[in-house]
Amino acid sequence: MKSWQILESGNLEQFKLQDIQQDKLSKGKVRVRVRAIGVNPADLMQAMGTHQNPPPIPFSPGFEISGEVSESHSEIYKEGDRVMASMDFGAYQEYVDVSENLLEIIPETVSFTQASAIPIAYGTAYISMLHRGNLKSGESLMIFGATGGVGSRTVEIGAAKGAHVIAIYSKAEEMDYLKSLGADEYINYKTEEIIARAKEITAGKGVDVIADLVGGDMFQKALESVAWEGRILPIGAASGEIPQLTSLDMLVRNASLVGTDFAAYIVNKPKIVRKAFQKLFKWHAKGRLNFPEPNNILPFEDARSVFQKMSERSLKGKTVLTL
Ligand SMILES: NC(=O)c1ccc[n+]([C@@H]2O[C@H](COP(=O)([O-])OP(=O)(O)OC[C@H]3O[C@@H](n4cnc5c(N)ncnc54)[C@H](OP(=O)(O)O)[C@@H]3O)[C@@H](O)[C@H]2O)c1
Repeated sequence: MKSWQILESGNLEQFKLQDIQQDKLSKGKVRVRVRAIGVNPADLMQAMGTHQNPPPIPFSPGFEISGEVSESHSEIYKEGDRVMASMDFGAYQEYVDVSENLLEIIPETVSFTQASAIPIAYGTAYISMLHRGNLKSGESLMIFGATGGVGSRTVEIGAAKGAHVIAIYSKAEEMDYLKSLGADEYINYKTEEIIARAKEITAGKGVDVIADLVGGDMFQKALESVAWEGRILPIGAASGEIPQLTSLDMLVRNASLVGTDFAAYIVNKPKIVRKAFQKLFKWHAKGRLNFPEPNNILPFEDARSVFQKMSERSLKGKTVLTL
């Protein structure tokens, strides 16, 4: 089968499309003929050797796919089922073998390209906010990095849960998009005073739940905006700067810092991940959630040029590769 393989860490020239031998399907596993692969910044981190859990070389990178079951040792999934899967690596291939507890049936109303973009962004947003952060309907929720891949899904799920969503953004043309996702309030981090505006919006109380995908300076703003008994959710550091803090920072605010590593949930708590996807599909069926079509749909063969663009930061929106 065709498989994109990382043959040497930190060198995109050594990210190559190869023909590799397919092993016999192991007991308890399901083989999926891949139709679409969701591209994430962490795929490039795997190729560059900067991801927190590097697999042994050679390996195929990537965390999310959709496709059809081609062979099954499971009692739940049968040949021909349309499924999506999360994994900790191994997505850039014609076929993937996965445990049944990492799979989910895709509803008829969701395309392969839509589905391949669900696991990481929606999964991270759901687990961090609802499973870890215990966000409740009626609470205020502020999101740093609201226009990004994960942040936009955080806005959408927060709104679907009934939170009062405050989106932090930088470009005027992004407001309509954030509104379409369900944001109630907008703060421009380049032109507005975030802490003062957050206090004003929450009538002086501070924000109940703050999802931080940016880190750096924004984290200090999160600390100064959080409500008594509020929760700050460190999810990412898109600014490139990991915030430093002391236990006193949380102690004096009577607030909590609640972290999420979604890839670790896939490996260690797959049942929780599956429950999250089932809930998201229920919300979709009720019209509470849309799964937008990715804006870049490219052929599988383009994987290396996609990684090159990611490394130059010139890839915008959500990209999926199809085969
Ligand atoms: N914890 C997990 O399990 C998990 C899972 C997936 C991703 N992540 C991490 O989450 C982060 C976001 O991922 P993503 O895929 O959503 O990235 P993305 O699509 O590149 O989005 C980045 C967002 O951050 C904003 N941003 C970047 N630099 C900023 C700065 N200096 N100040 C303010 N805002 C800034 C961007 O807004 P502008 O365009 O306005 O700059 C954009 O909204 C990454 O660090 C990623 O590694 C973590």
